[in-house]
Amino acid sequence: MGLKQRHIVRGLLALMLALAACSTPTPMRTGLNRVAPPSPVQRCMNLSGALEASYEGEWGYRIRLEDVDRLAAAGFDTIRLPVKWSAHAGKMKPYALDPMMLARTDEIIDYAISRGMNVILNVHHYSEMNKRPRRHERRLLGIWAQLAEHYAGYPDALIFEVLNEPRGAMTSARTDALNDKVMTVIREEHPDRWVVLATADWGSLRGLLGSKPPLDHKTILSLHYYEPFDFTHQGAHFLTASPPSGKLWGKAKEMKAVRRDLGSAADFRDALGAPLLMGEFGVYEDVPLADRARWVKAVRIEAEAQKIGWCHWGYATTFKAYDIEQERWIGPIRAALIDTPLPLAEVSTAP
Ligand code: GLC
Repeated sequence: MGLKQRHIVRGLLALMLALAACSTPTPMRTGLNRVAPPSPVQRCMNLSGALEASYEGEWGYRIRLEDVDRLAAAGFDTIRLPVKWSAHAGKMKPYALDPMMLARTDEIIDYAISRGMNVILNVHHYSEMNKRPRRHERRLLGIWAQLAEHYAGYPDALIFEVLNEPRGAMTSARTDALNDKVMTVIREEHPDRWVVLATADWGSLRGLLGSKPPLDHKTILSLHYYEPFDFTHQGAHFLTASPPSGKLWGKAKEMKAVRRDLGSAADFRDALGAPLLMGEFGVYEDVPLADRARWVKAVRIEAEAQKIGWCHWGYATTFKAYDIEQERWIGPIRAALIDTPLPLAEVSTAP
């Protein structure tokens, strides 16, 4: 190749790189931390199955304030509150939020904060978003504008989470761009509030690693971890085709896979300089208890070893840690979550 041709090739390459940079869906925000600060959330429980349903009680559980006390007493510092806001917002502009629902979230949030806990308030089960994002993004922005206004001036212990588990038409690029728009709305009233960003592909590791999140000084990366899915979701009644029961977990190579997965998530966090929260992890409640506890303990300990904050899914309904019928903790799950960390190698007794 002659000098002139080389110049042309170099010029073309530079042009391609410049175009690629322009087409990056969401530019990273400035003000990013050089070293990832610790996650403000260390040990958290998803207060799932209540406001997550279309109406509270639909799935047989209503949040009692003593549940918050129980979690605080057990050593949890945070509750994640999944709320199906799309079932409590108008269909047309301005997508008005139901004041009764806001009063209910206020009650739980105020109480938890008064007990020294953080609360992550999210938008859960907005499944239409994954099919017709263009139309529903407008509505989500309207929902966030109202939540941002309603919770203006709240203590830092209130944390927002943009959207649970985008998937389908909510590709990584679309999710990054949506995060950016929602952050702009939230930041008007909440310049310094922690915000957990949505990650595509069900919040999975793949979704996280494929994201270009619009980070700033108070954003938290998120990962949902249910690997291997065939183990954690075996027999799950809410899946149309649930994986068959009888799957075991706990061999050395399976443990290594957890370490490798969480290690890649931690490397991504360190490269980006934002804290990371494993916002959901757990095992379906019909899986034999010893197997469930083994997985929960191993994943929890590995997360702590990698300085990843975590939030168990869930509390008293699916994937539960607490038995509301008997009004008592499911001992092995509680112990798996709260006992002192141990090196991963010491955890398994599985074959
Ligand atoms: C997600 C879903 C929830 C499900 C959980 C475990 O959070 O929204 O419904 O129970 O993952 O699969």
